[in-house]
Amino acid sequence: MPAERLLVDTRLTRRQLLIAGGALAGLGGLSACTGGSSAPAARLIAPDGPEVLAAEQARTAANARVVPFSLRAMPTTLDLGGTTVATWAYGDQLPGPLLRATAGDILEVAVTNDLPQETTVHWHGLALRNDMDGVPGMTQDPIPAGAATTYRFALAHPGTYWFHPHVGVQLDRGLYAPLVIDDPRDAGAYDEEHIVVLDDWLDGTGRTPDDVLADLRANGMGMDMGDGGPPASDILGGDVGDVEYPLYLINGRIPTAPATVRSRPGRRLRLRFINAGSDTAFRVALGGHRMRVTHTDGFPVRPVEGDALLIGMGERVDAVVTLQDGVFPLVALAEGKDSLARELIRTGAGSAPSVGTLPAELDGQLLTLHDLTAADEVFVPERGPDRTLDLVLGGGMDAYAWTINGRTFGEREPLQIRAGEDIRLRFRNRTMMFHPMHVHGHTLQVRDENGAGARKDTLIVLPMETVTVDLVADNPGQWLVHCHNLYHQEAGMATQLSYLD
Ligand code: C2O
Ligand code: CU
Repeated sequence: MPAERLLVDTRLTRRQLLIAGGALAGLGGLSACTGGSSAPAARLIAPDGPEVLAAEQARTAANARVVPFSLRAMPTTLDLGGTTVATWAYGDQLPGPLLRATAGDILEVAVTNDLPQETTVHWHGLALRNDMDGVPGMTQDPIPAGAATTYRFALAHPGTYWFHPHVGVQLDRGLYAPLVIDDPRDAGAYDEEHIVVLDDWLDGTGRTPDDVLADLRANGMGMDMGDGGPPASDILGGDVGDVEYPLYLINGRIPTAPATVRSRPGRRLRLRFINAGSDTAFRVALGGHRMRVTHTDGFPVRPVEGDALLIGMGERVDAVVTLQDGVFPLVALAEGKDSLARELIRTGAGSAPSVGTLPAELDGQLLTLHDLTAADEVFVPERGPDRTLDLVLGGGMDAYAWTINGRTFGEREPLQIRAGEDIRLRFRNRTMMFHPMHVHGHTLQVRDENGAGARKDTLIVLPMETVTVDLVADNPGQWLVHCHNLYHQEAGMATQLSYLD
């Protein structure tokens, strides 16, 4: 779906919110129809409706602190470490500025749009008030070029989050930044922390993300590396992405000019990984160390140790390492794409490992979605479900259309729910590609065969796999559900989770 169409076709104005009960044929059992001649009208809960405001009220403490920030989306030139690119970013840095506050605070971000086109800001992973979610045509009108707006919302949950535009393929420029919400009760089983933002990069290297999308639409060409040979990735399969990127970055640096984190042996370092890439899953490892995963997508897990982590687009993983003595490469392999990004961690003497040094840990024990289980305090026990909704993931490279339940976003049939329900979602991947599926405004409880799993807002669904999750419908509004492969999203792989009253 081109951005323009996304903005025009799907605008949900207050006037359009009243829909007849008869239009809700898919909502079996929800209607309070008592056999009269016409079913009672069901109403979509508006993004700024009273239910949304009540939910916001409920998560706002009387004495909540307001934390102000300002942000400027603008064209700029960035030095990625010897390679200079013209791009768009938040300010003149990559990643954009860290926004940091404490759970219970109210975040107030004044956004100025100095881009040559309209934009929005989406606060990825937050259970926030619907009208601050940043989805143009669904929760707000976009911010016109040259205009400004202020986002203001209560921060319900601590954790590692990030933000980016939700217009077209702007995210695949330099428009992304970390958002960390501290836990006032966190005892802090670590001594220091480091944020690791991963990205696949092409803007300003001869093509823009818009060129790439136009190309995919025209040619449907992918990066199918599975032709005859062994799969490009032993975990993702042969079809690891649609876009060839010339560069991969950690914290805005190319691998030949890595940043160096300095610390001391014995220190416990918390790494907050964020995959801000548009078409690349990363396999990350730190040479000479095992990692103890403590959180994913902001929420705590039962701590589990591994050598390497698989992180899909939009996902976050927090891991603690106890630092050894020396100089160590922190490597993010672009999974299946035969390329990497890196940083160095230095705690002692020694020369830096060369760019070709691949930590053995990359081939060690790899932790993926199904190795993680929510910590007891955030685990959602199985109750329902009251309603089960299937999301069949389809499409492919030929026409370059990607679908949910056979429909692109423009043709969608919203997933209709009511507040208070226990909703089961089943992501059924019928394609040969992985899809990192993301639900706005909620954190899902993953359910394996035993009912266990992590809390996630973005999760990899492998080729031909089905992943079942439960969602507690406690954040009314109109929410986007989509693949966080940006090009899949733009080619239709998105739908709407729609609260009715
Ligand atoms: Cu990072 Cu619609 O999300
Ligand atoms: Cu996808």
